[in-house]
Amino acid sequence: MIYVTGDIHGSIDIRKLLDNNITEQMTEEDYLIICGDFGLVWNYKKADKNEKKWLKWLEERPWTTLFADGNHECFPRLYQFPVKEWNGGKVHELRPKVLHLMRGEVFTIEGKKIFVMGGAASHDRGPAVGDTKQVIGKFWWPEEIPSEEEMENGLKNLEKNNWEVDYIITHCLPTTFQTIVKKDKFKPDAATDYLEKIHERTKFTHWYSGHYHYDLDVVKNISVIFTRIIRIGETIIGSETMLGVPKYRKGDAVLIEYEGEEMLGTVKETYPWGTLFKHEEPYYKITLFDTDRKKPYVTIMESQVIEKSLIK
Ligand SMILES: [Fe+2]
Repeated sequence: MIYVTGDIHGSIDIRKLLDNNITEQMTEEDYLIICGDFGLVWNYKKADKNEKKWLKWLEERPWTTLFADGNHECFPRLYQFPVKEWNGGKVHELRPKVLHLMRGEVFTIEGKKIFVMGGAASHDRGPAVGDTKQVIGKFWWPEEIPSEEEMENGLKNLEKNNWEVDYIITHCLPTTFQTIVKKDKFKPDAATDYLEKIHERTKFTHWYSGHYHYDLDVVKNISVIFTRIIRIGETIIGSETMLGVPKYRKGDAVLIEYEGEEMLGTVKETYPWGTLFKHEEPYYKITLFDTDRKKPYVTIMESQVIEKSLIK
C-alpha cells in the first residue's frame, strides 16, 4: 500500500508519524510519500545530531519513506547523496529505506505510475521577505525553484509516458489551484506556472501537494495534505479517520448519525486521542440543534460524522 502525507519540516512535524492508528498498521510492504518540506537534511555544514537521529528512526520503521523535496531543504547537501535508479526513476539515497524522489521523474510503484516534481517558493524567508546574507545559503537556498533542466526532465519523462500517469506528487500546486487556496497571498512563480502546464496537458487520477499546511480537497482529484496520512487514491474527506488529528473543529456544524438517526449539531469539544476507554479514533461532543431532545448533546466517534454542514 502507498500512503501519502504532507510536510514534516525535519523533526518539527514528524510527530504525525508517531503513535497513531495509521502508521501502526503499516508494514514492510508499504510506502509513505511525503509531499515536500522533508527538512531533515537542513544543517548547511554537516549532518547534525537531529538529522542522524531521525533518519535512523525512519530507516528503522517497517515502511519505506519516499519524499519529494519542498522549499525547506538544504539542497547543496541533499544533492550530495548518491543517485540511484529506483522503480523506473532517479532517487537520492539518504538511507536504503529513505529515498528522495528527484524532480521530474516518473516512478512505478505497485503498478502505479507516479510523477514527482518537488520545489516551491518560500514565503517565510529568503530574498522575498528581505532576508540577507545571514540567511541565504544557510536557511534558504535558490534551488527551491526547479531549474530549467529539472523542468525539462519532467516534460521529457511525461512525454515518454504519453502524458498519462496515475498520480502526481508535488510540493506546490499549479497556479490556478494555488490561487483558489491562498488567494493573492501566494503569487504565481516559475514552479506554479510550470505545474499549470503539466496540469493542462497530463491525464492523472489524483494530484497531491504539500506546502500550504492544510488538509483540503481543492477539487475532486486535487488535494492539499499536511497533518493527515492517507492511502494514495483517496481524498482527504473520504480517508480513514486518524487518531490525534480530528477532521472537524470546535464550532463546526456537522451532520451526524446517532442511534440510527441523522441529526445536526455543533462540535462543542474535540478529543483528538479518543476518550479514556475508546481510543481508536477522535471523538467529539456535539451540541444538538434539536432542543426538544432529552439530552442536549451527544458524544460520538469521528466515523459517525457524515459531513460538515453548511447550516450554522
Ligand atoms: Fe512547509
